[in-house]
Amino acid sequence: EKGGFDHFMLKEIFEQPKTIFDSLRGRLDLDKSSVTLSGIEAIEDKIKQARRIIIVACGTSWHAGLMAEYVIEELCRINVEVEYASEFRYRNPIITKEDVIIAISQSGETADTLVALENAKEQGATIFGLVNVVGSSIARISHAGAYTHAGPEIGVASTKAYTAQLAVLQLIALKIAKIKGTISDERFNTLLLDLAEVPEKVDFILNNQVENIQRIASKYSGAQDALFLGRGFNFPTALEGALKLKEISYIHAEGYPAAEMKHGPIALVDENLPVIFVATKDSYHDKIISNMQEIKARKGKVIAIVSEGDEIASSLADDFIVVPNCNEVIAPLLAVIPLQLLSYYIGIERGVDVDKPRNLAKSVTVE
Ligand code: M6R
Repeated sequence: EKGGFDHFMLKEIFEQPKTIFDSLRGRLDLDKSSVTLSGIEAIEDKIKQARRIIIVACGTSWHAGLMAEYVIEELCRINVEVEYASEFRYRNPIITKEDVIIAISQSGETADTLVALENAKEQGATIFGLVNVVGSSIARISHAGAYTHAGPEIGVASTKAYTAQLAVLQLIALKIAKIKGTISDERFNTLLLDLAEVPEKVDFILNNQVENIQRIASKYSGAQDALFLGRGFNFPTALEGALKLKEISYIHAEGYPAAEMKHGPIALVDENLPVIFVATKDSYHDKIISNMQEIKARKGKVIAIVSEGDEIASSLADDFIVVPNCNEVIAPLLAVIPLQLLSYYIGIERGVDVDKPRNLAKSVTVE
């Protein structure tokens, strides 16, 4: 049942070229240069009228929501707010009939997300569910939705469900941008093409970087803390990298927007602190390079996720992991793969039961 892999988590990481393909299949059409998402089409009028989109989720699904905020605001020019379901639910939020809520949940059973949606629905908001488990509670209470099609995820740490969420959220952003007329045909077509190439690029990472990542994992497996830094579209990737490491290695890890490190976390930097930079090529690349120099100047150990052929970032880093080049909007789908593998191999080195880490449940159905 683990398909020859030692753990479900590793199997699920390696399934991603296929699961991402499945999440795009029948939706992304290169020949027609179109995105078909019946759930979005069903609420097209609501989306046109909406003054904002509110995304509600927990944990890894919340990180997917944060990426969606960057992508939807960039492509659709509509305000997006990303809310932790537990906070949104209890703080008496202002919700109107003009609000469209996107709920993101792998299980579709997370109690806080479910109740937050029930409350918002009562106040007249339109609920769109992005869910993996077919027929789950969140899928059932949503007005419209889309399934992520990642297949059953057994490992407690979310991997393939996350990248499937990212893939469908990219499609949702493209679809809304078309509906609202906020994207040029040229940009739309370029992004479609780039998205279609993601499965093979993920495959490239899985085929070429695993030994390198295993070596880096054993080098840093004794660390007590780790810092994950990223900017822009990859700031959520940094948060997700830190959460993965915490969950399956029990190393204390924090994710930050790279520039925020000067406002506090830099005090932690010494020769024992691994700092993982998500440093793929994008419009903020020179900024992240200077952040890396600042860490090196304080003797921190820099591990960088870099784009293929990026000599500057790779020569600055103590260790680096290469991912294929792609459009910066789509980069989070590639950049998270090495972070999943790094956490997995560090967890293994430390003897953690990575499929069932202590204290965690696959779906949090109590608050
Ligand atoms: O099933 P959900 O997506 O609603 O679950 C949300 C979180 O509980 C979940 O992502 C959790 O953070 C995972 N352990 C992450 O690996």
